[in-house]
Amino acid sequence: MLAGIATAMFMRQRRWWLSIHKAAGTLTAVCFLCGFTFAILMVGVSEEEHFRVTHAYLGLVTTTLAILTAFLGHIQFRIKNASGKIRALHRWSGRITLVFACTAVASGLQTAGIF
Ligand code: HEM
Ligand code: HEM
Repeated sequence: MLAGIATAMFMRQRRWWLSIHKAAGTLTAVCFLCGFTFAILMVGVSEEEHFRVTHAYLGLVTTTLAILTAFLGHIQFRIKNASGKIRALHRWSGRITLVFACTAVASGLQTAGIF
């Protein structure tokens, strides 16, 4: 996700920025979905109750936002008459996803007792 965002922010003058951003952004959504699935499985195999901790909700919101952002990224090229609005929305949801992702990682480390 960081690589994708950094490409969009700092590499825009390069011809290849969008290909890298698209690939990194799509992979971001796939990775979040895999991580989320494994988190559910991890809690399941230890026979704990699901969505017991605040971190779980942060993870759910972050994963949803990442998928939504990637979806907006793709459909801005398909819905031509609203592409400007979708693009602005995509930029904001991308930034908000980053903030939530950092918070989810920090709260995950805290939930695991690492800090
Ligand atoms: C979770 C995945 C993604 C994240 C977090 C993300 C995030 C961002 C962010 C933060 C920006 C604005 C950068 C700036 O401030 O200059 C941006 C721009 C952009 N993204 Fe993404 N993106 C993602 C996936 C995608 C995908 C899959 C596509 C295309 C298929 C895409 C297409 C674009 C385009 C065209 C822009 C430029 C918009 C403009 O400023 O005109 N993004 N993205
Ligand atoms: C360094 C990063 C992370 C660590 C150390 C970590 C650690 C943990 C731990 C220990 C639990 C189990 C909590 C319990 O006892 O119920 C958990 C659950 C969970 N984590 Fe993370 N996590 C991290 C990042 C993330 C991220 C980035 C996401 C999603 C964006 C995420 C999503 C979830 C979800 C959804 C659950 C709850 C699953 C359920 O209740 O069934 N985690 N995590």
